[in-house]
Amino acid sequence: MKQKQLKLALALAFLGAGLSAQAAGTRAEVIHWWTSGGESAAIKEMANAYKAAGGEWVDSAVAGGEQARAAAINRIVGGNPPAAAQFNTSQQFHDVIAEGLLNNVDDVATKEGWDKILPAPILNAIKVKGHYYAAPVNIHMPAWFWYSKAAFAKAGIKAEPKTPDEFFAALDKLKAAGVTPLALGGQGWQEKITFDAWLAHAGGADLYMKIYRDRDVATVNSAAFKKVLSDFKRLHNYVDAGSPGRNWNDATAMLISGKGGVQIMGDWAKGEFAAAKQTAGKEFGCFAGFGPRSPYIIAGDVFVFPKTDKADIVKAQKLLATVMTSPTTQVAFNNKKGSIPIRTDVNLGELDICAKQGVEIMKDKSRQIPNPEMLTSPDMVGALQDAVSKFWNTNQSVEDAQKAFASALKG
Ligand code: GAL
Repeated sequence: MKQKQLKLALALAFLGAGLSAQAAGTRAEVIHWWTSGGESAAIKEMANAYKAAGGEWVDSAVAGGEQARAAAINRIVGGNPPAAAQFNTSQQFHDVIAEGLLNNVDDVATKEGWDKILPAPILNAIKVKGHYYAAPVNIHMPAWFWYSKAAFAKAGIKAEPKTPDEFFAALDKLKAAGVTPLALGGQGWQEKITFDAWLAHAGGADLYMKIYRDRDVATVNSAAFKKVLSDFKRLHNYVDAGSPGRNWNDATAMLISGKGGVQIMGDWAKGEFAAAKQTAGKEFGCFAGFGPRSPYIIAGDVFVFPKTDKADIVKAQKLLATVMTSPTTQVAFNNKKGSIPIRTDVNLGELDICAKQGVEIMKDKSRQIPNPEMLTSPDMVGALQDAVSKFWNTNQSVEDAQKAFASALKG
């Protein structure tokens, strides 16, 4: 939600204040956007764990991240908040904190020792002025490469590409074999994460950080960034005519059926493979970037707990935060979700080969980089996404795309 919209909504909030209609006990309405097959299976694990702990879970699924976040903010500022709402591990909910509209879960964080068990980028996103405003539930890496083993075999690709050049060569082979080389859902957020993946993996962590953390105009104008942009646009040659508007999970389905070769997507895609009974290393493969030094973008999801002075809801919120982050829920949920747990004290034996690869990379802190939403405000993310989409979908020149990027980064 844009800053201005939030202000307006806040002004209206007083009109709706006091309308909250939550029932007694540990009944908790939870808003989230997990509606695909794999996502639904994962959130069910969380709901079951909450029920097993004595709570009553009221599921409010809203399709689409942007839509679900807008619905949650409208409910919060309208004075009729849910007990909990999903956001990405990012700055997306920082305006709401600044307006004093969230309860903190300091008790749970202290009791569970979050400072010790959570990676720094997650702590930075949820801890504001010493208070913990969200329960993190997973670590997603939004910039994985997934591929259909059947499609690779059909195209005669023997090894996973280790460089951008090898990647383009693999795409050419897939095209020649009659497979859609790149399965992409042409929606703004998917185009943006494809771009971010390319920036991090082909451009490198330094370039990525100079763009998103430093917002350095000289870097936007550099030859290195220009190459990232033009190679990103080169990927457009490998998508099919059905790409525009396609949902991300329908793109994953193309790999599942072998009609698509590669999808660049977060590891939530793995939830779809799992729901289709496909196994990592068997029917599909995964690589987290090009070569052994590729950066690992840290992203994920959290649940925030809207302000209320109703004791029963506060109790439910604390129970939710405890259950969502507990070791057993973490393993059950993350196995279905395709993400890795937020804590290291869990039994990793139950994770698949891609998750294990992710956990291994994560151990090297120098390879961890924050997702762009952690480094930039929601308004800036919106402007950047528009710039990427325009460049991807029109014949805008690389030079004009550089200008658009520079202006979006000015805020
Ligand atoms: C992301 C979220 C993931 C996954 C994905 C697609 O924002 O972090 O958990 O759900 O959206 O829905």
